[in-house]
Order: sequence, then structure tokens, then C-alpha cells
Amino acid sequence: MQHKGWSGVLIVPLLAGCLHRGSPPPEPAPGRELLVHSVAIHDALVQGDLHEARARAGQMAALPGADVSLRLMLAEISGAGTLADTTAGMGHLAQYCADCHAAQGVSLDEQPVSLLQAVITPASAPLERSLDQLEVHLSGASTQELRSAPLSERGTPYAELLTTCADCHLAGRSPPHPRLQGVPLPELKASMGQHFDQAVDLGLHVMEGDLERARLSATALASTSLSQELPETAWPYVAELQEAARQAEQATGLVEMALATAQIELACARCHTATGAGPTQTLTAPSGERHMSFHLYGVYWMGYGLLAPDERAWMLGATVLASAWMLPPGWSAPPEQRELEEAVHGLAQYALATQDPQARAEIRAALLVSCPACHASGMEPL
Ligand code: HEC
Ligand code: HEC
Ligand code: HEC
Ligand code: HEC
Repeated sequence: MQHKGWSGVLIVPLLAGCLHRGSPPPEPAPGRELLVHSVAIHDALVQGDLHEARARAGQMAALPGADVSLRLMLAEISGAGTLADTTAGMGHLAQYCADCHAAQGVSLDEQPVSLLQAVITPASAPLERSLDQLEVHLSGASTQELRSAPLSERGTPYAELLTTCADCHLAGRSPPHPRLQGVPLPELKASMGQHFDQAVDLGLHVMEGDLERARLSATALASTSLSQELPETAWPYVAELQEAARQAEQATGLVEMALATAQIELACARCHTATGAGPTQTLTAPSGERHMSFHLYGVYWMGYGLLAPDERAWMLGATVLASAWMLPPGWSAPPEQRELEEAVHGLAQYALATQDPQARAEIRAALLVSCPACHASGMEPL
């Protein structure tokens, strides 16, 4: 077989950048801060403002002490596409807070500032009081289930009640549109769908090692007409996207192209977080053999996780990659391919551990170039 000396050239510098940058685990976020953010999501949902709820969940996930389980809970809210899915996510979040408070014997204020606070407080008197107050303007029937639920099962009736609040408040009004710093944004689904296709194509061309076609996708993204559609408050986000796309356009090698691809995805994510908008695809379970279809699957959902942004998609993609085998059993691979397989597994493990967006972008880039690096060897067994 032909050996082109690719693996050292492409992967090693990227790996060195990624793997030697462990940061100490952050301090857990204190209760007050969690409460302020959770109440903001709750209030947005009560008014049926899905985008505001998603934006607030994104901000809460960025708290320095937010650990993986909290981020996964919040991802269920910020990645949800419908009101019912969003309130269900909020129900799971509240249950998560309540369960830990119960387990640790924490007692919170007896005078809750919000229904949410009453739901996550182990005692039942604050919840009774909160619901009594609310019954001034909604029927007792709608609160009955939450009132009688034990602490360990409050999440679901709480979520259903939130949907009832939102439905009634929205009745006769159209649901709020995404906003940026208070300024409503126009309908963007068509141009976003196009940008999504361009970003996915760009990633695929890098995985194929096709620099020329990757450049065409980058050019398409760099010449976005989003600024013409959007109010001025959104221009800085568009400018970031264009800057990253121009870097990709000018890339002279695959590594540079892969790094720029990941920066483009981060630029998408920044605007989606700020607007509480973005793609809301449903995660699908991987199918087929644990081989290359798994590999493609893993790398797709990691890219999606970066640009949506969607914590669950990132984690699921990385989990799949960490366990997928790349060299079929009995495949007598050259040592470089074995090294590369190990490197990919190491990257996927690191992807599960790090929450830093820039580190994630570097991992994504290294994974993208791993495909052509390994395939370039001709894929013939020795
Ligand atoms: C892993 C366990 C755990 C989880 C999960 C948890 N908490 Fe707590 N929480 C505690 C403990 C322990 C305390 C008491 C010590 C303290 O005040 O820090 C506490 C206290 C609080 C307080 C009272 C703090 C004060 O200063 O009066 C609030 C409010 C609070 N949590 C909100 C939340 C919210 C909201 C969530 C869910 C988003 C949550 N907590 C999730 C363990 C947890
Ligand atoms: C049957 C319909 C209905 C249901 C159900 C309902 N509300 Fe309301 N709510 C209203 C109406 C009507 C108003 C007054 C609207 C206004 O002032 O614009 C209102 C106003 C409010 C306000 C004050 C809003 C403001 O801007 O001052 C809050 C807070 C509120 N509701 C909370 C809730 C919560 C929490 C729930 C669910 C547990 C809920 N509501 C369920 C009809 C409902
Ligand atoms: C300037 C802000 C901004 C930037 C930059 C941005 N988006 Fe979006 N995106 C939005 C908003 C706002 C929506 C919600 C659109 C709507 O509901 O009309 C959205 C929605 C989406 C959707 C869902 C569309 C649908 O049919 O529901 C996808 C997919 C998407 N964006 C992909 C991308 C990709 C890929 C990029 C980067 C290449 C990107 N976006 C960059 C603001 C942005
Ligand atoms: C460690 C080496 C290695 C890495 C890294 C690697 N591959 Fe492969 N790939 C192979 C080998 C060997 C084959 C051929 C063996 C086979 O088809 O069973 C192959 C074949 C494929 C095929 C065609 C076979 C099929 O099952 O349809 C696809 C698609 C594929 N790889 C995708 C990817 C993607 C996407 C990446 C990067 C995320 C990647 N590969 C990274 C070694 C690798």
C-alpha cells in the first residue's frame, strides 16, 4: 500500500493543541444564581415566549459552575422546537433541582418568589400557598395534579401547568417572534435552511479531503445576504459569520479549512444563543453497524451540536465516536492507521470532558481532518 506520510502532518499538531489543555473543574453555581435564571425561563414559558425561554436556558448553561448534567437538562429546553417540548424540559429541570434538594435535606425560603421556587422546595406549604394565589385567575382543576403530587413527581404536572398558563396567555395573540436585544427579527427560515445546507456541505467536503469544493461552500456562506434581512443589532453576528467564512475561503490547506469550518459553526451558535432561535432537529438513534456509518453519524451530530448549539447532540455524537471502531476486525492496518484510530477515540473522550467552545471547535476540526487522513492511505490492508 502507498503510504503518504499524512498522519503526522495533519493530526499531530491539532492533537497537541487539544489534548494538553485541561482546565480545573469550575465551582458549582450557587443556588441563588440558579434560581434567578430558572425563574427567568419559567416566566418566559408562562407567557408562551419560547425564544426567550430558549435564550435564557442558553445563558444559564453558560454559568461558570454549570456541570454536565445541568447543561444537558438545559439543552432539552434550548433545543426544543415546540411549547410542549420546552415545558417538558422545564419540568425535568425543576425535578432535577427538587430531587437534589430532597436528597440533601435542603430547605428553601418559606415565602417563594415564584411558583418555580415552590416546586423545587421540599416542603409542601409554599406550593399550596403559591397555587392558592394563582387560583385567583385560573381554575382549581388545572392545579389539582401538581397540588397532590409528591415531591419526587412534581415535574410532569408542573410542566403541564406551564403549558396551560402559556396557552391561555397566548390565546388570541400570535406567539412571540425571536428577538435580538428586544428588536423583533423577521422570518428567516428559508435563508437559515440554506445556510444549514451550506455548512453541512462544507463539513462533508472537508471530510472528503476536497479543498476545492469546500471553498465553494465557504464562498456561499461568506456572501450571505443576512444583513439585508436583519436589523442593525444583528449585524455584528453576521459579520462574525462572514469573517470565519472568509478565513475558510482563503484556507490553503485542509487543517486551516477544518479550523475555519468549526469557527463558522461557532459563529452560527453565538447568534442562535443570543436570539433563543436556531435549528431544532430531533436526535435520532444511530443505526447500522458500529463502523463507518457510526463515524459519520457521530461527526454529524457533533457539528450540529456546535452550531445549534445543542449540548445533547454534541455529547451523543462524541459518545458514539468514542466507541465506534474504525478499522474493521481482521483489518491489518498500517501502524499509522492504528495510531489515528486511537487519536480519534482520544479526541472523542476529550470532547465529552470539555465545555470550552474554542476547545470544542479544535476537536471538531481535528476530527474532520482525521477522515481524509486515514482514507488517503488507500484503505488497502497491508
Ligand atoms: C446537586 C444538588 C443540587 C442541585 C442539582 C440543585 N441544588 Fe439548590 N441547593 C443545594 C444545596 C446543598 C443547597 C443548600 C446550600 C446552599 O445554599 O448552597 C441548595 C440551595 C439552593 C437555594 C437556596 C440558596 C440561598 O442562598 O438561599 C436555591 C434558591 C437553590 N438551591 C436553587 C436551585 C435551583 C433553581 C436548582 C436547579 C436548577 C438547584 N438549586 C439545583 C443542592 C442542589
Ligand atoms: C384562563 C386563562 C389563564 C390561565 C390558565 C393563566 N392565566 Fe395568567 N393571566 C390571564 C389573563 C387574562 C391575564 C391578564 C393579561 C394582561 O393583563 O395582559 C393574566 C396575567 C398573568 C400575569 C401578570 C402578567 C403581567 O404582565 O403582569 C401573571 C404573572 C400570570 N398571569 C401568571 C400565570 C401563571 C403562572 C399561570 C399558570 C399557572 C397563569 N397565569 C395561567 C389568564 C390566564
Ligand atoms: C444573525 C443571527 C444568526 C446567524 C448568524 C445564524 N442564524 Fe440560524 N437562526 C437565526 C434565527 C433568528 C433563527 C430563527 C428563524 C425563524 O424562526 O424565522 C434561526 C434558525 C436557524 C435554523 C432553523 C430554521 C427552521 O426552519 O426552523 C437553522 C437550521 C439555522 N438557523 C442554521 C444556521 C446556520 C448553519 C448558521 C451558520 C452558518 C446560522 N444559522 C447562523 C439566527 C441566526
Ligand atoms: C483510523 C482510520 C479511519 C478513520 C480515522 C476514518 N476512517 Fe472511514 N474508513 C476507514 C477504512 C479502513 C475504511 C474501509 C473499510 C470499510 O469500508 O469497511 C473506511 C471507509 C469509510 C466509508 C465507506 C465505507 C462504508 O461503511 O460505507 C465511509 C463513509 C467512511 N469511511 C467515513 C468516515 C468518516 C466520515 C470519517 C471521519 C469522521 C472516517 N471515515 C474516518 C478508516 C478510517
